Amino acid sequence: MAYSEKVMDHFMNPRNVGVMPDADGVGEVGNAKCGDIMKIFIKVKDNIITDISFQTFGCGAAIATSSMATELAKGKSVEEALELTNLAVAEALDGLPPIKMHCSNLAADGLRAAIYDYKVKNGMSTEGIEVCSGCCHDCGH
Ligand code: FES
Repeated sequence: MAYSEKVMDHFMNPRNVGVMPDADGVGEVGNAKCGDIMKIFIKVKDNIITDISFQTFGCGAAIATSSMATELAKGKSVEEALELTNLAVAEALDGLPPIKMHCSNLAADGLRAAIYDYKVKNGMSTEGIEVCSGCCHDCGH
C-alpha cells in the first residue's frame, strides 16, 4: 500500500479541522507545486499553543499531514512549534510516498505563518521566522 495506516487514519478522521473565529494567529499559505491552499489557526496562552485548527483545500496527504501537525504542535511552546519540520510530520505518519512529500510543506509552512501572524499582532519580534507563501517556485517546495 502506498500510504501508511497512520496516513489513512488521519485522512479518514482528521483531527482539529475547522475555522477558529477567535484565533490569536492565522497563517495562510499556498503550495507552489500544486496550487493547493492551507489555513492554520492558533490560540496562544503564556507562550503555549493551547489550541490549533486547520482548513485546507488540499489533497488527502495534505489533510493527513495537517491533522498530524496540529496534534504535534498542540501544547508546545511557540519556539518548539517553530521547529516542527515537514519531515518530522511525515515521519510521525510513518512516511509519505516521495511524490507526496511536498504536501507536508503546507502544514509546516502554515503553522509558521500562523505564529508569525500571532507575533506581529502582539508586537513581538519575528526575526528568524521564515514564512513561505509558496510564491517563488524556486525553493523546492
Ligand atoms: Fe497539493 Fe498534496 S497535491 S497538497
